[in-house]
Amino acid sequence: MGALYGAFHFLRLLQTLQPIDKLDVSQKPRLQLRLLDHWDNLDGSIERGYAGRSLWDWKALPENVDSRLRDYARANASIGINGSTLNNVNANAQILTAEYLRRVAAIADVFRPYGVKVYLSARFSAPIELGGLKTADPLDAEVAAWWKQKADEIYKLIPDFGGFLVKANSEGQPGPRTYHRTHADGANMLAAAVAPHKGVVIWRAFVYDMKPGYDRAGAAYENLQPFDGKFAPNVLLQVKNGPIDFQPREPFHPLFGGMSRTQVIPELQITQEYLGFSNHLVFLAQMWREFLDSDTYASGPGSTVTKVVDGSLYHQRLTGMAGVANTGTDRNWTGHHFLQGNWYAFGRLTWNPDLSSRQIADEWIAMTLTHDPKATETIARMMLESHEAVVDYMTPLGLHHLFWGGHHYGPAPWWNTEPRDDWNPVYYHRADAEGIGFDRTATGSNTVNQYHWPVRGQFSNLSTCPDRFLLWFHHVPWDYRVRSGRTLWDEMTLHYQHGVAWVRATRKDWDALSDKIDPDRHAAVAKKLTIQERDAIWWKDACLTYFQTFSERSLPAGVEKPAKTLAEYQAKSLQW
Ligand code: GCU
Repeated sequence: MGALYGAFHFLRLLQTLQPIDKLDVSQKPRLQLRLLDHWDNLDGSIERGYAGRSLWDWKALPENVDSRLRDYARANASIGINGSTLNNVNANAQILTAEYLRRVAAIADVFRPYGVKVYLSARFSAPIELGGLKTADPLDAEVAAWWKQKADEIYKLIPDFGGFLVKANSEGQPGPRTYHRTHADGANMLAAAVAPHKGVVIWRAFVYDMKPGYDRAGAAYENLQPFDGKFAPNVLLQVKNGPIDFQPREPFHPLFGGMSRTQVIPELQITQEYLGFSNHLVFLAQMWREFLDSDTYASGPGSTVTKVVDGSLYHQRLTGMAGVANTGTDRNWTGHHFLQGNWYAFGRLTWNPDLSSRQIADEWIAMTLTHDPKATETIARMMLESHEAVVDYMTPLGLHHLFWGGHHYGPAPWWNTEPRDDWNPVYYHRADAEGIGFDRTATGSNTVNQYHWPVRGQFSNLSTCPDRFLLWFHHVPWDYRVRSGRTLWDEMTLHYQHGVAWVRATRKDWDALSDKIDPDRHAAVAKKLTIQERDAIWWKDACLTYFQTFSERSLPAGVEKPAKTLAEYQAKSLQW
C-alpha cells in the first residue's frame, strides 16, 4: 500500500507540475480509518444522493462486477481513502444474508488491491429479522451469539472486512435503548463479535430521540457523553461535525473535546443534502477547515478539533474520519464537475487534516481543469469564496434548518407541519416581533454549557459571540447593532443580497474562462451556475419576504425587492 500511495503521490507531483529532480518525500497518513459512507439502499436508490443511482448493482453481483468499481477504488486510493461502507445507515438487515454477503465479497475483491476495505451498516434488530430470535437485546446471550456467528461468516468470505457502522435509536432505527440497555451495551456487544477478527464497530452519535421541548442541539451530548470511557477498545464514536445535522454552517459539535476516553471520529457530509444538492458549486474544504481549526479548549488553548481527531490530544489509539459520499452512476461521478473537488478534498484531509483549502483547490484544479495560472487564480478564488456565499444566501448569521421539509432543497422558513417540532424550521429560527434566533444560553436551553470554557463564555455573550453564530446561540432583537454597526435586520438582508451578487459575479468569471476549459465541462458548469443563481434569488426572496412579516422593517438600499408574494413562495416546493 505504501508503494501504491507513493505512486499516486508521484503522479500528483507530475500533474501539478512540481519539480521532481530532487525527490525526498516521506509521508504517512495522519488518520487511520479514512472512510466513505454510502447511504445506498439495496434497491439502487441513494438516500440524499444527487449523482444518479448506486454504483453497486446488486442484481448483477456477484457474477458481474461493473468495471467502474475498479475505477472507484483506484480513485479512492489516489486520495488516501481506505474504507467504504456500502449501505445506508438506515440499514436493511438483508445485506447480512448469505446471498448478499457473497455480493459484498465480490465488491471487496475488487477494492482489495487498492487498499479499500469494505464495511457494512448493521441493523440492530437483524437477529430478529434474519435470525428469528424474539429479541435484539444486546445483553441476551443468544443475541450476542447470533452476531458472533454472523461476524465469523462474514470474515470467512471477507478476511479483511472493516467492521460495522451502526445508527441506533435515532430517527426510528432500532437500538439497545429499545431494550432499556445503553449505547455502550449495544456497541460493546457488537464489538465483541468482530474483535477476534480485528474488526471495529463505528457507533454513530446522531441520536436525538428525546422528550418534547428539549433542544436538539444538546441531545447527542446528553445521550452519549455519560458513556465516556465505557466503550470497548475497538469501538469508535462517529460524530457529525456540528450538533444539529450538516447545516451550511454549524459550530463544532461539543462532543469533540468532550470525550477524552472515547475514540471519536468526525462524520462529514460530502453529498450536499443542505447545500443545493449537486446543483450548487460549494467547495466544502473551506467549511471542513473551519471545523477542524475550531479550538475546543478541552485541554487549554490550541486544543483544536484536528488534535482531538488525530489522537494527539487524548492519545486515541484508533483515529479516523468518515464522509457521506457524493458519488453515483452519473458519468462525472458527482453530478456537478466541481463537486468531484469535494470528494478529493475529503480524501486529502483524511490523509493530512492540516492541508489548507487553497492547496487542495490548487492541486485539484491543476489535475482536473487547467494549468493556466490566471484561470487557476480565478477558479481557486471561486472555490474558496463559495461556502461563505452559500451560507449568505441560505442561512446567514447562525440561522439554520430553514429548509423545505423532506427533500431539503429550497427555502421554507415558515414550515411548521412536521410531526416532530425539531424537524420544523420555525423551531430553529424562532422569529417573532422582537427578533430572531435560538437562545441556547442560560436564559434559553443553555446547551452552550456543553462547550469548554472560554468557548462557552465567548458564545454565551452576545457581544463576543462571532457574527457567524449569532442566531445559533441568541435570540436577537431586530434593531440590535451587530459588529458592522448596522441593525440585525439590515445586516441579514445584506448577507442574502451578497450571496446573490456572488453567484452573479461568479457566472461572469466562469464565462470568461471559456477558452481555458474544455467546452463540454465549461458548458455543464455554466448551466449549473444558472440554476444556482436562480436558487440564490429564491432563497433570498422567500426568506426575506417571510422574515419581514415579523420584523416589519423595509429592505435597505441595495437589497433587491422580491418578485413574488409570500403565498407564492409557500406554494412551490421546487422550481426546477
Ligand atoms: C439526516 C438525513 C437523513 C439521514 C440522517 C442520518 O437527518 O436527512 O436522511 O438518515 O441525517 O445521518 O442518519
